[in-house]
Amino acid sequence: MKKHITSFDGTMSSRLVYGTMQFGGKADTIAATEMFEACIEAGITHFDTANVYNDGKSEEMLRKLASPIRDKLIIASKIGYTGGSGASNLKSQFADTRRRLGSDAVDILYLHRFDPNTRLEETFETLASFQNKGQIRYIGVSNFAAWQVMKAQYAAQSCGTQIDIVQPMYSLVKRQAEVELLPMCQDQGIKAATYSPLGSGLLTGKYNRASPSGRLATDDRYAARYAQAWMHETAKSLNSLAHDINVSPITLAVAWAMTHPSSPDPIISARDVQQLRPSLAALNYKMGSELRKRISDLSIAPPPATDRIEEA
Ligand SMILES: NC(=O)c1ccc[n+]([C@@H]2O[C@H](COP(=O)([O-])OP(=O)(O)OC[C@H]3O[C@@H](n4cnc5c(N)ncnc54)[C@H](OP(=O)(O)O)[C@@H]3O)[C@@H](O)[C@H]2O)c1
Repeated sequence: MKKHITSFDGTMSSRLVYGTMQFGGKADTIAATEMFEACIEAGITHFDTANVYNDGKSEEMLRKLASPIRDKLIIASKIGYTGGSGASNLKSQFADTRRRLGSDAVDILYLHRFDPNTRLEETFETLASFQNKGQIRYIGVSNFAAWQVMKAQYAAQSCGTQIDIVQPMYSLVKRQAEVELLPMCQDQGIKAATYSPLGSGLLTGKYNRASPSGRLATDDRYAARYAQAWMHETAKSLNSLAHDINVSPITLAVAWAMTHPSSPDPIISARDVQQLRPSLAALNYKMGSELRKRISDLSIAPPPATDRIEEA
């Protein structure tokens, strides 16, 4: 396994990744430029996008911003959210991604989701052919269960390549990755870049206040994802703890995700640079194990993978 993800010139991946899902949507060119510059200043070297973010505008905007220092950065994109992971769909979507991001290698190419209807060998033969042509450097999978990663890894290895990185959701209110996926990463030496460390904004505490603006208030899919009452209680408790220790709840939520024992690299995001600053501050915030446990205790730990722990 490759131990580290690096850029073309050997620069190491930063401990936080910046996700550009808002570029070309909620973040216009000015907001995107300010956030990109703040990330570079803070030492972020790893940027995440996808072919489906704002109909390709995110990839295009990221290319323009990154081009003066392209070789020092790790650029990740994702394909296969729509249309499945068959060879023809992957080739056509990757051609569009390369056109928008530039024909230089995409550092990391993820499958955006698991496709139960395509043979994994077909998928990984296609990804291996991109890699053999020097068009991608690392292969990733997103939104896969641990068993799907291991099954896909077998297929990848039989095609002479490997899965280097996974991209699951992980936050104080979405802890499923703790049960199997993150322990698998630790055991197998696979990197994890975890998304939505703020629960898509819930953990900022703004949804506990009157008339908040943000995705959970305007997008039914996000409202459904975080609909359980305990999640809103957790956000409230995190904000109260943050107030007591005089640290932003946003910094605490990102630092909490970062300090899982498997050392994942959270993918942070925002719609403007003011929103972004407290997430970036997690880079320099030292969260000890005692505080991490206090914060973990504010939410519900998912049940273990087997029912036999009563005998342990
Ligand atoms: N692989 C996948 O399927 C997948 C899925 C989702 C995301 N991702 C990646 O992960 C990245 C991060 O995901 P995410 O945006 O869900 O992460 P997140 O960190 O959980 O949420 C970020 C959002 O929280 C709100 N927010 C952040 N700071 C704030 C502040 N200071 N005050 C108030 N609100 C604040 C903003 O949304 P509002 O302005 O809307 O409130 C912001 O866009 C994405 O850009 C993308 O690259 C991947």
